[in-house]
Amino acid sequence: MDIVTIHNLKKNFGKGFRLVKALDGIDLSIEKGKFTVIIGASGSGKTTLMNMIGGLYEPTEGTVIVDGINLAELTEEQLTVFRRRKVGFVFQDYNLVPELTIKENILFPLSLDDSRPDEVFFSEIVDLLGLNEKLDAYPYMLSGGGQQCTAIARALITKPAIILADEPTGSFDVKTSQNVAGLLKMTTETFHQTLIMITHNLELAQLADCVVRLQDGRIVE
Ligand SMILES: Nc1ncnc2c1ncn2[C@@H]1O[C@H](COP(=O)(O)OP(=O)(O)OP(=O)(O)O)[C@@H](O)[C@H]1O
Ligand SMILES: [Mg+2]
Repeated sequence: MDIVTIHNLKKNFGKGFRLVKALDGIDLSIEKGKFTVIIGASGSGKTTLMNMIGGLYEPTEGTVIVDGINLAELTEEQLTVFRRRKVGFVFQDYNLVPELTIKENILFPLSLDDSRPDEVFFSEIVDLLGLNEKLDAYPYMLSGGGQQCTAIARALITKPAIILADEPTGSFDVKTSQNVAGLLKMTTETFHQTLIMITHNLELAQLADCVVRLQDGRIVE
């Protein structure tokens, strides 16, 4: 079963001589539970494609269907709920809230939705990511790897169907990169989620079930 179906997707930025065709006719299906890696040169459209799957941008043309939902048919309010419940974002620069503890950061998406944490699930995630001893610490007290694990835990806590990770290992050395990518793969497998990850690292791409290569807003492989 496909969890993402994209048809003839185009996304333009700007107008006239400033027009950028960030995505120029993308057709793509992503199977549920699989690990997909998106690669391609800087500016090839990777982040744009990921943001469109996450419902952050409106298409210029074409359709994006996620878990049976045609995103074009959602109101702004429904889109907000979609983003909060269906997708988990892991950003390159973690985006943690500095004033909140690690535990509070992880639980933050739930507080936005007024939902209660599932204590058992919370412990399971924290164990998997090795954050047990760090729950009362603040982000600046953790290494980059620890902060990225916190960002991963925060993305998982709402049990989203899809995890979208944009260069989650961008600032790490080879070994830490492999650990972070391995953790993402392992956690999403454990919780039967679909993982879509952008990377420049071809070694990490080998962990994936499927590799999509973008060039100038088109899929070339
Ligand atoms: N919000 C925006 N406004 C204007 N142009 C944009 C915007 N977002 C992306 N672009 C342009 O669209 C093209 C694709 O950008 P995108 O960020 O998707 O590339 P990328 O593959 O993620 O690159 P990188 O590897 O550097 O992150 C680029 O030419 C970029 O300048
Ligand atoms: Mg990018």
